[in-house]
Amino acid sequence: MDALILLSWYDENHRSLPWRSTRTPYGTWISEAMLQQTRVTTVIDYYKRFMILFPTIEALANASEDEVYKAWEGLGYYSRARNLQRCARECVERFHGNLPDNVDDLLSLSGIGPYMAGAIASQAFNKVVPAVDGNAVRIYTRLLALPLYAGDSKTNAEIASRIEKDIDPDRPGDFNQALMDLGAGICTPKSPKCDACPFETSCEANLLGLASDFPKRREKKKVPVYPYTIVKLIFDDGIKHVCVRKRPSTGLLANLYELISFPGHLDEASLRIALIHHTRNTTIVSVRRLTSKTHVFSHLKWDMIGYEVVVQPQKNTDRAIMFFDQGHDRLVGYRYVNKEEYAELAFPSALRNYV
Ligand code: ADE
Repeated sequence: MDALILLSWYDENHRSLPWRSTRTPYGTWISEAMLQQTRVTTVIDYYKRFMILFPTIEALANASEDEVYKAWEGLGYYSRARNLQRCARECVERFHGNLPDNVDDLLSLSGIGPYMAGAIASQAFNKVVPAVDGNAVRIYTRLLALPLYAGDSKTNAEIASRIEKDIDPDRPGDFNQALMDLGAGICTPKSPKCDACPFETSCEANLLGLASDFPKRREKKKVPVYPYTIVKLIFDDGIKHVCVRKRPSTGLLANLYELISFPGHLDEASLRIALIHHTRNTTIVSVRRLTSKTHVFSHLKWDMIGYEVVVQPQKNTDRAIMFFDQGHDRLVGYRYVNKEEYAELAFPSALRNYV
């Protein structure tokens, strides 16, 4: 790879992105954390909002966990949000509220792996180190027609050592970001635009007419599908409250909020029976079917149907019923929240349809 060709292409064609114009270590870190698994166009607004809510590492370290989750709501892979705050606290304790400027110390922090450490060290501290992501792997395996598999650690190590030889020592951050932009706009996974690529005539895969075949891919495993019935249960005695609970602090979607859910797809009669403990001392006044939705996680899929159920207090009962009998398994953790609190809670995108 000729760094000069790559960088002159970048100088002409780079995307202007908010974290590039300021380039602080904190901003670089937040943007990189958001950009792992999420597209640039989605990240831009989240990034701007996050930097206003938590302008410094200290502000992030001191925020409440729920505030951070709320700012992350919709970005997915929520363990990133939790790690972000852990990492901010580690920076306060160990590095006077700053991010360290070298790969080894960066790697010792929560949620920072080899890619992110390289991205931060090169972009924010001008360290001459690689940042190997899917773009770098795609570009290098195509340029040299390398028969390597995407996602293997051996592949990443091989590409990292090639980048170490090629990287421009004066512009390491731009070199790494140029690979990202070339990979996002030209050397795309499907239908790459080889005729617009600065390496059109030197890329081995293109010369072979096989650009789309690199890198090699292993067959995807089939993910298991879980059917669920999601219930937005509304208590209405003139003021509406929604029944929610916080998910456990470990496992899928840890610490996010959820509505009531039952395994399986329930018809209305079964739903009324399933809800019997949630609706004690109330009368169900309406049941409305909501649209069905599937949500794919990295390792499983939810196949959801939904209902909105409105209940009213029976005579002689009052809001006391909003405080569930926590002794019953089905009800542990559930509570009713009013409109204002509901708006403050972070729910997973999987439930957006129903929330
Ligand atoms: N994806 C991950 N990091 C990026 C960056 N700094 N610029 C553009 N896309 C990216």
